[in-house]
Amino acid sequence: MQVITRIAELRERLGQNGSQGKPTSATHAQQTVAFVPTMGNLHAGHISLIQQARPLATTVVASIFVNRLQFAPNEDFDRYPRTFDADCEGLKAAGADVLFFPEERELYPEPQGFVVQPPAIGQMLEERFRPGFFRGVSTVVLKLFNLVQPQIAIFGKKDYQQLRVIEALVRQLALPIQIIAAETGRDHDGLALSSRNGYLSPAERAEAPRLYQTLQAMQQRIRGGERNFLALENDAIELLRSHGWRPDYISLRHRQTLQPASADASEGVIVAAARLGTTRLIDNIEV
Ligand code: PAJ
Repeated sequence: MQVITRIAELRERLGQNGSQGKPTSATHAQQTVAFVPTMGNLHAGHISLIQQARPLATTVVASIFVNRLQFAPNEDFDRYPRTFDADCEGLKAAGADVLFFPEERELYPEPQGFVVQPPAIGQMLEERFRPGFFRGVSTVVLKLFNLVQPQIAIFGKKDYQQLRVIEALVRQLALPIQIIAAETGRDHDGLALSSRNGYLSPAERAEAPRLYQTLQAMQQRIRGGERNFLALENDAIELLRSHGWRPDYISLRHRQTLQPASADASEGVIVAAARLGTTRLIDNIEV
């Protein structure tokens, strides 16, 4: 696996330096790129994205970049875990060909004045609790797409709204990229793998699986015919509160639009975000 920190070197490696226009070797002409952007501190969920990318393209590119633009001033940018050596081992073992690992001044050599303003799908749920989050994500992902120029990019359903926002970005800006959604990797007790799980104390870690358990219980009740979604959501919020959580939202939405679900709950997803101590966890379940 080649670790690349410079944009010029990345373009060279991916054959974007103009040589593709010439009739070079057949293999070069047929190069396809699958891309997995990350912020590092990789766990088995991230690695599964690389493994899914591997058979889909000749070149698998991962990126690690902790994107300041998507962190609010009060958030954890400075303490976000950085574990470069272990990340490299994991990426290599999973079959990545290239890791793009730019410094901040390489990606943002001047203040990023041009930004991508997300549409309605990026103005609800997470955005209400993390103002500017999807603008930061959309801007860096568009920039990374411009640099890597992949045919395929893989995103996790763990960040369900992010996935839908990126799909909308690709659609509305007519980017020639196929977005693939990957299932959420979970720990043995159901907790969705997340770099932020490392912030949990042992007692919080023991409590953390309750978020997904609560979503599973809601899923069961909907499958059993429950149609009072508001009561279901409020019960879940109260249950978590009684165990020390501070929920931001728990909401049944339509899978594609993320608008409140219709009465039949078809094509639904329950999205949730809640704080446990100082750690904010998100999860979701398709219904
Ligand atoms: P990060 O949180 O590092 O996640 C990188 C990718 O891994 C995202 O597509 C995310 O949905 C996926 N992922 C995270 N946890 C997962 C899990 N448990 N199972 C499966 N996939 C999982 O998301 C970001 O970084 C950033 O916002 C980024 C898109 C890189 C833009 O900065």
